Amino acid sequence: MKNVIVLGAQWGDEGKGKVVDLYAEFADVVVRFQGGNNAGHTLVIGGEKHIFHLIPSGILHPQKKCVIGNGVVVNPKVLLEEVGRLKERGYLQDDSQLKVSHLANVIMPYHVALDVAREKKLGDGKIGTTARGIGPAYEDKVARVGIRVCDLLKPDVFGEKLRNNLEVKNFLLEKYYGAKPFEFSEVFDEYVSLGERIKVYVDDTSRFLESEMGRGAKVLFEGAQGAMLDIDHGTYPFVTSSNTTVGAFATGAGLSVKRAGSVIGVAKAYTTRVGGGPFPSELNDADGDYLREKGQEFGSTTGRPRRCGWFDAVVVRYAHRLNEFDGLAITKIDVLTGLPRVKICVGYRYEGKVLDSLTPEIDVLSQVEPVYEELEGWSEDIREAKEFDDLPKETKRYIRRIEELTGVEVVLVSVGPERNETILRKNPFR
Ligand code: IMP
Repeated sequence: MKNVIVLGAQWGDEGKGKVVDLYAEFADVVVRFQGGNNAGHTLVIGGEKHIFHLIPSGILHPQKKCVIGNGVVVNPKVLLEEVGRLKERGYLQDDSQLKVSHLANVIMPYHVALDVAREKKLGDGKIGTTARGIGPAYEDKVARVGIRVCDLLKPDVFGEKLRNNLEVKNFLLEKYYGAKPFEFSEVFDEYVSLGERIKVYVDDTSRFLESEMGRGAKVLFEGAQGAMLDIDHGTYPFVTSSNTTVGAFATGAGLSVKRAGSVIGVAKAYTTRVGGGPFPSELNDADGDYLREKGQEFGSTTGRPRRCGWFDAVVVRYAHRLNEFDGLAITKIDVLTGLPRVKICVGYRYEGKVLDSLTPEIDVLSQVEPVYEELEGWSEDIREAKEFDDLPKETKRYIRRIEELTGVEVVLVSVGPERNETILRKNPFR
């Protein structure tokens, strides 16, 4: 038995969806264990574009089971929208393909309203959240007042929890933020009915996974966001509200850490970030615009233009320290094609000294100056490359340099958006 955990090694949007989709072919079950519909995976298959926010991308493989674990915050409306879209396109014909943990916390409409109101109040100091209610939902989970998926299925329990929550949330929304409050009966009726509609997917997913693994199933764990957005280890407070690093797979799926197999980090061949917070290798120049336009760096969840910069080896090395990757998947390297020179950030200069490791304290990180190494670019079209040796020598040198600087072997290189535009150097399931 071998399991694989796929994690973001930067600030999210690394192209994990495509990597998960490729690896899913070798897995029996695909699991999400943290985050919510703040994530956005775009997949292009046969020219058809699929965007997922909540359901694991493995769902496009009809014989694979997909699990939304207890560590995820679930917006039932988004779940049903994705289910509907999948069914329309001929996927998810068998409802038993998808399981949602009965213990997952639910994103309620007041979470979304609070997320929006708080960001508005923060003004220029805002985090730049995805406005999906992620933070407020996790806050309620930790405050032990959250509504869980199992509660939605018991109207009496749900009603009491909702009433208690609305008392506080409406007070905050109305009196502090000057926003519209919620009507108990409207929310209650709507969410009882949503509960009825998602019931078919609700399960004890920890138990389900244990039983699948007992039968020898191979499990692929699909991380959302990236190491630099981790609530503990990221650029706090410009982070998401969950742990995006490796340990979360166990707590977020209800499994022992002993179930971990290979850990694969996904990094773009350059760097992007959405929202506020420090970003040492950011480019506010023509190269940054080039990366944004050519890489189509606009958020798949919010449509916001992403901030773009050179590959930051310090960031990925830090992600490696936290996760101990067994391999790196480098995505979107084709975006760099055509640049005469490419740069890699190899260290940071701070108060006259060069730091070669990262401290996520934002007062330091927002003042560091990147130290770059320059490499020759390439102009050949690389989208047809199937093997590492099909790549131009400059591209190979770039990848080898990433390996040297991060200390991780590059096991996959994505040379275009399509499933088949990929160089699979090593399969972590084998
Ligand atoms: P939240 O997760 O919506 O609370 O947003 C917090 C921070 O994480 C913001 O900077 C978001 O832009 C960022 N973020 C959340 N999810 C993603 C993602 O899937 N990709 C990239 N950034 C994300």
